[in-house]
Amino acid sequence: QKAQPTIFVIFGGTGDLNSRKLAPAIYNLFLEKSLPADFAVIGTGRTKLSDEEFRKSLYEGINEFSRRGKTDKKDWEQFCGHIHYQIADLLKESSYAELKKNIEQLQAEWAQEAQVIYYLAVAPNFFPVIARNIAQHQLAENSDNSRIVIEKPFGHDLESARELNALLGELFEEKQIYRIDHYLGKETVQNIMAFRFANSMFEPLWNRNYIEHVQISVTERLGVGDRGGYYEGSGALRDMVQNHLLQLLCLVAMETPTNFGAEEIRNRKVDVLHAMRRFSAEEVRMNTVRGQYGQGWIEGKEVPGYRDETGVDPESNTETFAAVKFFIDNWRWQGIPFYVRTGKRLHQTASTITIQFKDVPHFIFPPETTETWQQNRLIISIQPEMSIRMQLQAKRPGLEMVLNTVDMVFDYKGTYTVEAPEAYETLLLDTMDGDQTLFMRADQVEAAWDLLMPILHAWESKRSLSFPNYSADSWGPEVAEALIARDGFHWFTLPVNNKK
Ligand code: BG6
Repeated sequence: QKAQPTIFVIFGGTGDLNSRKLAPAIYNLFLEKSLPADFAVIGTGRTKLSDEEFRKSLYEGINEFSRRGKTDKKDWEQFCGHIHYQIADLLKESSYAELKKNIEQLQAEWAQEAQVIYYLAVAPNFFPVIARNIAQHQLAENSDNSRIVIEKPFGHDLESARELNALLGELFEEKQIYRIDHYLGKETVQNIMAFRFANSMFEPLWNRNYIEHVQISVTERLGVGDRGGYYEGSGALRDMVQNHLLQLLCLVAMETPTNFGAEEIRNRKVDVLHAMRRFSAEEVRMNTVRGQYGQGWIEGKEVPGYRDETGVDPESNTETFAAVKFFIDNWRWQGIPFYVRTGKRLHQTASTITIQFKDVPHFIFPPETTETWQQNRLIISIQPEMSIRMQLQAKRPGLEMVLNTVDMVFDYKGTYTVEAPEAYETLLLDTMDGDQTLFMRADQVEAAWDLLMPILHAWESKRSLSFPNYSADSWGPEVAEALIARDGFHWFTLPVNNKK
C-alpha cells in the first residue's frame, strides 16, 4: 500500500472515459491495495449531481466495464467514501477556486500534503483553458507533487501539437506532464521490451539481415458508434496511427536502451521516429492506402455505412481505414518495410505484430516433402489473444519426411494464473509513482506528427471519389491487400473467435 496521500481530480468526471476506464481502474487499484489509505477522487462535470448520484453513476460503469465484473457491496461502500463530485464550469475561474478549496479541505482532514493528479478526460479544446487555470490558481505549484494527465488527441496536426506543448511547457515542468497513449499500458505491449531486451537470442537476428518485413495490424470490428462527431475531424491516421501504431512500431524498431530509465527509453523510441522516411507526394501515393466503410452485415445484423453514422457528413472524406508502408532509414532497418494498417468495421478485432524472417538461404528438402512452407515468423498478439508465438518448420510425425508449419506458443492464459491489469490501471499507478516511461514526451508527439504531415496533406488535398470503398466485415479496401501483395507478402491474421 502506498503511503503518500493522493487526490485524483478528473475533469470530465461524468464522461464516458471515466465511467468505462478511469473509475474501474481506480477501483481495481483500490481492491489491489495499491492506493494509499488517504486518497480521494474529485470528479467534475457540468451536470448537477450530488456525491451520491455521482457514486451511483460510477457504480454502474464499474459493474459493466470492470474486468472483475460485479462489485462486492462491502468493498464498494468503503470505496465510496473516497469519491466526491464537484459541479464545475471549466470556463469559469470560480470553479478552480472551489476546486482549490476542496483539495485544501481534504489535505486538512488528512493533516498532510497530498499529491494531486489532474486528469483531463475532456474534449481537446478544453485542454488549454484547464491547464491555464490550474497554473493560475496555483494548483500545481509543487512540481514534485502535482501532475497533469492529457488524454489524446494531442493536437490535430504538427502545428497544434507544438502549440499545446509550448503552452504546457510554459505552465508546468515536463516531469509533471503525462501524455497518455493507453496502448503503452497494455500488458502485451510492455512485454515487447521484456522479450527483446531480457533475452539474448533475438537481438542478433533483429535487423535487416534476417528480418524480411514487419507488419503491425490493429483492426476493429466496431464502427464509430456515437463518436461520429469526434471521428469526422480525425480519421484513422490521426486516431490510431499517429499514436498507438507508431508507438508499437518504435518498440519493435528501437535500439537497445542502456538502462530502463524513462528518458533513455524515450530517447531510443524517438530516434526511430526521426529515422523514418518522410514521404514526397509521389511516395504517399505509392505507400499509403485509405478507406471508408460502407454498409454491411455483422453477425446477421445490418450495420450502417460510415456516412450514415450520427454526426458524420453524408459526403465525408474521412478515412476509417489506413495502411502505410513505412521505412526506417538507419543501419538496422534499411530497406525493410514496416507495413501498418488499422481500421474500423473490419472482419476481426485484433492487434498483432508480425515479424517475418528471411527464407533459408538454400533449400535442401525435395519439393514433395513440404506440406506447407512458411518462412519463420514471430507473432506478438496484443489482443484479444495475449500471446507470443514463433512459427517454425518441423517434421510431421510419420515414416516419411514431411515438413509443415508449427507454432511454439507462449500464451498468457496457459502460463500465468494472475489476471493482467487493464492498461489504465498500470498507467494511473505509474502517474502516482512519477514514472513517465510509458508516456509520450513532447518531442515524441511532435516527431510522430511531423512524420504524418505529408500523408495528411496529400490526402486532404485530394478528395477521394471512391468512398465508401469497403464493406463492413471485410478486410478493408482491396488496394490495402495490393499494397503488400506488390512486395510478395500478405497481411497476416491469427484465427480469432469474433464472438468471444
Ligand atoms: C482509441 C481510439 O484511442 O483507441 C478508438 O480513439 C479506438 O477509436 C481505441 O477504438 C482502441 O483501443 P483498444 O484498447 O480498444 O484497442
